[in-house]
Amino acid sequence: MNVARIAIFASGTGSNALNLIYHFDKNDAIEVALLLSNKADALVVDLARNEGIRTEVLPNSAFVDGQEVLDLLHSLDIQWIILAGFLRKVPSNVIRAFDKKIINIHPSLLPNFGGSGMYGMYVHQAVIDAKASESGITIHYVNEVFDEGEHIAQFVTTVTPEDTPETLAIKIQHLEHDHFPAIIAATIQS
Ligand code: GRF
Repeated sequence: MNVARIAIFASGTGSNALNLIYHFDKNDAIEVALLLSNKADALVVDLARNEGIRTEVLPNSAFVDGQEVLDLLHSLDIQWIILAGFLRKVPSNVIRAFDKKIINIHPSLLPNFGGSGMYGMYVHQAVIDAKASESGITIHYVNEVFDEGEHIAQFVTTVTPEDTPETLAIKIQHLEHDHFPAIIAATIQS
């Protein structure tokens, strides 16, 4: 069987990265071969190491030029990149080399509440401020324009008048954990 070797890029607490690691541990067709971060002190780095995942940290400067990232990915025979809370822009040469092989998850229903500065609680605060009646997640391919790659799937949750950014964040995280692994698997295996 052909095993798809994936790299997860993450900068934060890593709840999605960990969820993916657990999920693909039970999937013989997909192997998490690398966790790459730009932050040595990010919780996700510890979590991945504890799970025995090869973990590398490169400085922010490496994500400007991209060559070191590309060399690392090629040396590990990585075929797919999954962005799970990765807060740097993916270098252009990496995007070109991994055309339609980079998948991101965004915590809103794009094109709403996306773009520069829209991450984490900023997204949920903006949704609440706009009095939106629904929000959700968007799983999409990554191209050179932030948050504008082709959509793969969206999942919706209701926003009630009682919701705060914090309660909405919990609803969104449940959607992410429930759907992201299966959508990645279906995309890779299609
Ligand atoms: C998630 O909300 C994801 O949609 C966004 O970054 C967040 C990462 O959360 N891209 P975690 O670090 O996986 O908990």
